[in-house]
Amino acid sequence: MVNPDVILYGLLLALPAAYLVQKLLVAQPDCPESEPPAEKEENAQTSIMQPARTDLAPPKDDPFTLAQLRAFDGSDPSKPIYVAIKGTVFDVSHKGDTYGPGGSYNIFAGKDASKGLGKSSLKVEDAVPDYSGLPESEMKVLDDWHGFFSKRYNVVGRVVDLPAAVANL
Ligand code: HEM
Repeated sequence: MVNPDVILYGLLLALPAAYLVQKLLVAQPDCPESEPPAEKEENAQTSIMQPARTDLAPPKDDPFTLAQLRAFDGSDPSKPIYVAIKGTVFDVSHKGDTYGPGGSYNIFAGKDASKGLGKSSLKVEDAVPDYSGLPESEMKVLDDWHGFFSKRYNVVGRVVDLPAAVANL
């Protein structure tokens, strides 16, 4: 016969452990870590992602070189913060806590980091514009991010010196 104390302690340990496993492994955030955000948009009320906006300004077509874009990485508080995806430059200033210095996604600020968005990678070496080598599935993730940003951030311009491999894609 097993000592009832052992069962009791076992249960006391197992329940919090099961809760933690559920939180960490099952209940992933609505991030590309789990699945591309566009597929969840119908579910906006239950999503932790910010909802799409209805007050976006008409898109602008100002030209930016990749070097010029660097000035808009949030390090100068007097300037807006820009993120470019597939050459489209988005103004993400109203999410300064996310994209500004120390923010979770500051790696994308002042850059076209399309490759990293497609790969769901926050590595600095992936934060580059040349996404040409990505497999189909990651191209889709990248396109979904482009759609996500298009519905939430004003377009302020386009990158004019993308690497040749992606310039005409
Ligand atoms: C387990 C790891 C991760 C967790 C816990 C996580 C968590 C989150 C959360 C809570 C949000 C919504 C909050 C907000 O709007 O600031 C978010 C948004 C986002 N995540 Fe993640 N994330 C993870 C990994 C990644 C990775 C690897 C990428 C790389 C592409 C990524 C890219 C993004 C982007 C671009 C947004 C949209 C931010 C916006 O609203 O503009 N995340 N993530």
